[in-house]
Amino acid sequence: MKKNGSFFFSLNNQVFSNMKIVLIGYMGSGKSAVGNQLAQTLSTKFLDLDAEIEKEEKMLLSNLFDKKGEIYFRKRERTILLNLLAQEGTSVIATGGGTPCYGNVMQELLNTPNVMTIYLKASLATLTDRLALEKEKRPIIAHLNTEALLNDFIRKHLFERNFYYFQAEKSVKVDDKTVTAIVEEIVVDLF
Ligand code: S3P
Repeated sequence: MKKNGSFFFSLNNQVFSNMKIVLIGYMGSGKSAVGNQLAQTLSTKFLDLDAEIEKEEKMLLSNLFDKKGEIYFRKRERTILLNLLAQEGTSVIATGGGTPCYGNVMQELLNTPNVMTIYLKASLATLTDRLALEKEKRPIIAHLNTEALLNDFIRKHLFERNFYYFQAEKSVKVDDKTVTAIVEEIVVDLF
């Protein structure tokens, strides 16, 4: 596999030693579950950006949004991601749904050597079904009380965010696939 003409990965792990595989995609697209299993499969570290922010800020994201607001969150999200990218060693990083869409982060990801961006692409129907069941811990959608409101919100939001998501170097459709199947698809493509 190539980026800017140079091989990223090789089976003998020579180039694999300092890779950052960065998963992007809308809330509910499976970044954390896929990232976790992908890291296990590749025997590398898994980093969940939301969890790293909560650790650094010593509070849950929902409290952080409440107490300090979204702009503060976006700044911290960007800084903490760039710190993770600068760490030595290979890792799989699951971002938050909005991470690549603010503060030039997508460009940073694309311009940073040894970063591979993968978009987990889920349909509006899949996202609505999944997020209807797990919106409480997500401050951006927690207030949407009906499935129709949620669906409408996601549709418009995806339309704005697709501009960023579509710039990823790889894209994997995730609808109706198990985490294992998605991970296999990614791994086959990497080597
Ligand atoms: C957000 C997505 C969340 C989290 C925050 C904001 C977004 O991450 O970063 O609530 O703007 O889409 P997940 O995609 O992991 O839910």
